[in-house]
Amino acid sequence: MNTLKHTLNQLVGEALSIVCGLADCDPNVITASKPEFGDYQSNGVMSIAKKVGTNPRQLASDVVEKITADANPLIAKLEVAGPGFINIHLSNTALMQRASEIRSDTQKLIPTTNKVDKIVVDYSSPNLAKEMHVGHLRGTIIGDCLARVLERQGHEIIRQNHVGDWGTQFGMLISYMRELRASQGDLPTELSDLESFYRAAKERFDADPDFADTARSSVVKLQGGDADHLVAWQQFIDESLKHCQALYDKLNVTLSRKDLKAESFYNKDLDGVVKKLEDASLLSVSNGARCVFLPEFTGKDGEPLPVIIQKTDGGYLYATTDLAAVQFRSFDLKVERSLYVVDARQSLHFQQVFAVARKAGFASENISLEHIAYGTMMGRDGRPFKTRSGDTIKLVDLLDEAIRRAHELVSQKSPGLDEATYLEIAEKVGIAAVKYADLSKNRTSDYVFDWSSMLSFEGNTAPYLLYAYARIRSILRKQNSGLESVQITSVSESTERNLLLKIMQLSEVVDMVARDCYPNLLCNYLYELAGLFMRFYESCPILKADTQLRDSRLALSALTAATLKQGLDLLGIETLEKM
Ligand code: ARG
Repeated sequence: MNTLKHTLNQLVGEALSIVCGLADCDPNVITASKPEFGDYQSNGVMSIAKKVGTNPRQLASDVVEKITADANPLIAKLEVAGPGFINIHLSNTALMQRASEIRSDTQKLIPTTNKVDKIVVDYSSPNLAKEMHVGHLRGTIIGDCLARVLERQGHEIIRQNHVGDWGTQFGMLISYMRELRASQGDLPTELSDLESFYRAAKERFDADPDFADTARSSVVKLQGGDADHLVAWQQFIDESLKHCQALYDKLNVTLSRKDLKAESFYNKDLDGVVKKLEDASLLSVSNGARCVFLPEFTGKDGEPLPVIIQKTDGGYLYATTDLAAVQFRSFDLKVERSLYVVDARQSLHFQQVFAVARKAGFASENISLEHIAYGTMMGRDGRPFKTRSGDTIKLVDLLDEAIRRAHELVSQKSPGLDEATYLEIAEKVGIAAVKYADLSKNRTSDYVFDWSSMLSFEGNTAPYLLYAYARIRSILRKQNSGLESVQITSVSESTERNLLLKIMQLSEVVDMVARDCYPNLLCNYLYELAGLFMRFYESCPILKADTQLRDSRLALSALTAATLKQGLDLLGIETLEKM
């Protein structure tokens, strides 16, 4: 099954080609921009008419005539409008027919792609020296949503958690750890709070020159492969990864240990990266460091900007590892797309890495390298979200706070439930609220983190959607069994028809998210869907209607619930049967 939009594009495209004699015409069918234009409209006729030198209105009416003559069952009516648009009205019977197909197999809500791609989604990717903080939220949940969406379409997804687990900070950390271990034996208890562990190590580093020396030589030993240092490092990394995993689980994010492809994984390839750049005559030495200068990257004053590959002391940099990673994804994993879900502040880094990768052959020709940039989460003061004293906020603390606030909210909204139920609801609503507030914003802009709006039951929020879902489920529960077999047999009320058409369009929104990577499109869709359900519910009695009409409306409600659940699942949000 294809989406309606896809089917219509094919249908109008073929008719257009036949009528104008030009192969592969793009009819540019989109959802109608106004209800009076019908369900969809074709906007492509004018530009084709220009190409072949005919009158656009004439061409449009020839196309309409051709399709009408073929009597396609999907189409109820076509009209030529304005300078050559074609308005498309779909047949109610065809819509109901399609609905019954989906009702019997809800997999069909989102048809499987005709062309399966292998796709890397690089996301979350925290630096393991510290605990995950609020700055890691966006990348983690946007990336997870994209991975879910693409996977649901049937693509082969390779999640890559490109964690920072190498570099000078780890010398300091493992020196401190070795010191504590010497007095405590085993794994230092301080490791349970990585943030204060890091701070304590840093204080020690700044205060004691001897310790700083030890730390510096630790890096050298670690990078030289000293067994004891490697053991300490591995222990530290394991601890840090446990922290991350606990957060992924709490956030209902699909990452696990098997998705890990840490920076250190690429160590073995870094000499090769330098060699390849050398062979391509791209390296030059600047202030002792080996760099690549590309003419398209210049600073404010027009001076060339370097991509630093290797420092004077031989150490490699972030960009070096990323070049190795491009090579790995391109030639070992052989993917068609590599998505980097990373903070917008790294835009220049990725532009440079991608450009160097293309120039020096780290990327195959057919790989699409895409930086999926996102903006910063701001506090109410309009500055990056921090504690009052200006410290970074641990992600775990933010999530616990969300759960606490959701608990307060649901105990007010639904009094009289038992504590275990409150806890379960609070956990889901709290996490959903934080995730949805983020995913529903255009990812490229900064946004202000605001508890009261994200936890509101009104507006485009998780509580509103979860409540809408739970409400439909409660209507359906009032019915006896046998709902599975009832079908939608009425769309004569406009609120019924609008709702059904919207349900059919989930797959079209998913197509857009898969292509352009904007999860907020899916959020908007779900919000509109829930709104259309509310309008239908207000204007169409369900349980009081005659049997056939009641069954049809129940079937429509059940399909709405399934669509909401499917959409929320793609956002990584779990639904609740009761709220
Ligand atoms: N660890 C990096 C950071 O915390 C993000 C890594 C993103 N992925 C990549 N391939 N560079 O900023």
